[in-house]
Amino acid sequence: MPRPILATIHTAALRANLQALRQRAGDARIWAVVKANAYGHGIERVFEGLHAADGFAMLDLGEAQRLRALGWRGPILLLEGVFEARDLELCSRLGLWHTVHCEEQIDMLAAHKTHEAHRVFLKMNSGMNRLGFRPAQFRAAWARLDALPQVDEISLVTHFSDADGAPGIAAQFAVFQDACADLPGERSVCNSAALLRFGSDARVASDWVRAGIALYGSAPDFPVHTSASWGLQPTMSLRARIIGTQDLQAGDTVGYGSSFVAEHPMRIGVVACGYADGYPRHAPTGTPVLVGGVRSRLVGRISMDMLTVDLSPTPQAGVGSEATLWGRSACGTVLPIDEVARIAQTVGYELMCALAARVPVALEADAADA
Ligand SMILES: Cc1ncc(COP(=O)(O)O)c(C=O)c1O
Repeated sequence: MPRPILATIHTAALRANLQALRQRAGDARIWAVVKANAYGHGIERVFEGLHAADGFAMLDLGEAQRLRALGWRGPILLLEGVFEARDLELCSRLGLWHTVHCEEQIDMLAAHKTHEAHRVFLKMNSGMNRLGFRPAQFRAAWARLDALPQVDEISLVTHFSDADGAPGIAAQFAVFQDACADLPGERSVCNSAALLRFGSDARVASDWVRAGIALYGSAPDFPVHTSASWGLQPTMSLRARIIGTQDLQAGDTVGYGSSFVAEHPMRIGVVACGYADGYPRHAPTGTPVLVGGVRSRLVGRISMDMLTVDLSPTPQAGVGSEATLWGRSACGTVLPIDEVARIAQTVGYELMCALAARVPVALEADAADA
């Protein structure tokens, strides 16, 4: 018997989230961002749910190859562009579009021998100070690219640092608009948060949006909004079974460090999920867990292979009962990944991406009832 833990990827939820984002995107086309192995879901596993996207965006050339191997013939965008000159050969061969964010990448393109001119996305650093040309250098970079026979179409792109928070996108968007006002080419500025919060302005949604986390059913601006309030469904559920129970007396402690002390007699369940499965070790006592679909709480410290839950709300639960660590329980109750992430002082992105390789993963095609 394998350990009783399973992650489930919900194909219908991926499809529904894509559709929900499409309604917000107006005429903009949607890049489904599938970097980090589709935010931990697995590129092959999300492909069916997301193949109605207009394109796929990622970082790794290996991931781009996997998408082509799945039969995807549409646009693929490398969000960080190429890392070395020979990557351009693969771009030519697989028809990959790529970001250009620095002079070195233009040098590589200028030296590249190809029969197929490339479509590139020229990136502006409009204030995040990660990748991209500063506004003052942007036009010169555009002119350099425009003069290259290796390049056919140039699109313009930037990335917002605060689309999910109070500052919003206004300042960076104004910088971007100013600096490329009279440059031709398609535009792409929105990640999930920018699309959800500001994408009703068609200038912001522009030509392409790059949607990641919202496709995977997490609210980028939680707790201001929840995934449900954005109309998004969980696409990954992590469930495990209770493999043992303990009856505690007042004063008994639980787990490493004896950090939880029972105040009164209570029953706890030991769940076959630990930090080696990707559950956040820093999740404190009180973190929500569903037992048989009923909300309960974690007690004590997370260990490598196990965690412990309070069985007070579900006295009938015992060995073999289901615990849902995030996502949808078998009976349909949802524990948003964002709630678990927040209390563990991280974000839904990290939890999804950290799902460990040892956790078996199943695909569930049916639409959720809830
Ligand atoms: C350049 C770029 N665009 C789009 C995205 C998608 O962002 P999100 O997952 O917040 O929608 C990312 C992710 O970090 C990114 O780096």
